[in-house]
Amino acid sequence: MPTLRDDFFHFVCQTSPEPLGIEVERAHGCIVVDKNGKEYLDLLSGIGVASLGHAHPAVVQAVKNQAERYLHTMVYGEYVQEPQVRLARRLAEVVPAPLLVTYFTNSGTEAVEGALKTARKYTGRSRFVSFTGSFHGDTFGSLSVGGNLLYRMPFEPLLSAVTFLPFNDLDTLAGIDETVAAVIIEPIQGEGGVRIPDREFLPALRQRCSAVGALLIFDEVITGFGRTGKLFACEHWQIVPDILVLAKALGGGMPLGAFISTPEIMATLSTDPPLAHVTTFGGHPVCCAAGLASLEVILQEQLPQRALVTGEEFLQRLQSLLGMGGFCGVRGRGLLLGMDFSTPEATKRFAHDCFTAGVILGWTLHQDTVIRLAPPLIISSVEIDRAVAIVQDALQRGDSL
Ligand SMILES: Cc1ncc(COP(=O)(O)O)c(C=O)c1O
Repeated sequence: MPTLRDDFFHFVCQTSPEPLGIEVERAHGCIVVDKNGKEYLDLLSGIGVASLGHAHPAVVQAVKNQAERYLHTMVYGEYVQEPQVRLARRLAEVVPAPLLVTYFTNSGTEAVEGALKTARKYTGRSRFVSFTGSFHGDTFGSLSVGGNLLYRMPFEPLLSAVTFLPFNDLDTLAGIDETVAAVIIEPIQGEGGVRIPDREFLPALRQRCSAVGALLIFDEVITGFGRTGKLFACEHWQIVPDILVLAKALGGGMPLGAFISTPEIMATLSTDPPLAHVTTFGGHPVCCAAGLASLEVILQEQLPQRALVTGEEFLQRLQSLLGMGGFCGVRGRGLLLGMDFSTPEATKRFAHDCFTAGVILGWTLHQDTVIRLAPPLIISSVEIDRAVAIVQDALQRGDSL
């Protein structure tokens, strides 16, 4: 009789040779429990999604309430659906002005696609600029602006009019000119290894885009909703992008993405022709209800501020372990942290040992010597103590080999 695990390997498309393979029984707060009752402390939040922790009661209740009221009733943009409208209004209140109008999608990559298409149609230009080390999703448009050749190559030909500039290099910004429809950037690169640009870089980029009339798209799929200590990372630099892309924590654990811009820019999707960019499930009422509940908790409990304080505490505790087990660098903003290791082998061993001891943390996609931490923003000091003890143990084990 095949087990559930056997069926997972047979019937569910495998995306890597070594999946983590936890058989999830339930998840709450910062804890994921497997079918044998083993508890894992989740320092990754399902890759930046569970910012309120898993299954927050306010989100679960909102899902239940909306599911009992109505599920899908019509494709996007035709009916007035209360959760969608209320979430769009709430987002307009918390994103920087003049961003005001939201288009909801099912995922981050779909929101990036929408942002790129909007920029092309609005500007009438074709070229995009992106940055080395960036990650914007895996559909064709998003992949075309992804800054890692290894992941682009198997799927070429992709969009051809894309120029990649080095991340955080002021001198190359002159490469952005009047032919560019949009520049897309993560204000802090996530998959690229938690790379934080120097203070002047993003303001200079904003200036250059404005000077040549290129739209600036901030992909805040990972950095949004308090992860870096501000509600949106663009606030660290007091910069307003032309289009803000959101997903992951937006849905409070339900699939939801969005791109938000000014009324003028977003009006480009309404006509010439009408229905030029539509989605069946984008902005699903249950997901929007969950997103609204999640956003209210984030604001009421001041989770961005909390992430700033907790992140600083976590960073300092990790700094005290530098030098052990090949651990050679650490950086972060809020609760988005990156740990550098001297070799891919040391990184792999460390991740494996932590996992065995009951801590979930992750490699970044593009950097095999960086471990990324993105725990729920509600993580407690006691849980950080537990995490640091396990991390320290794993590093010491690395030293003893
Ligand atoms: C910065 C960034 N943009 C876009 C995406 C794609 O989001 P999704 O997986 O929801 O399509 C990701 C996913 O990790 C991301 O980190």
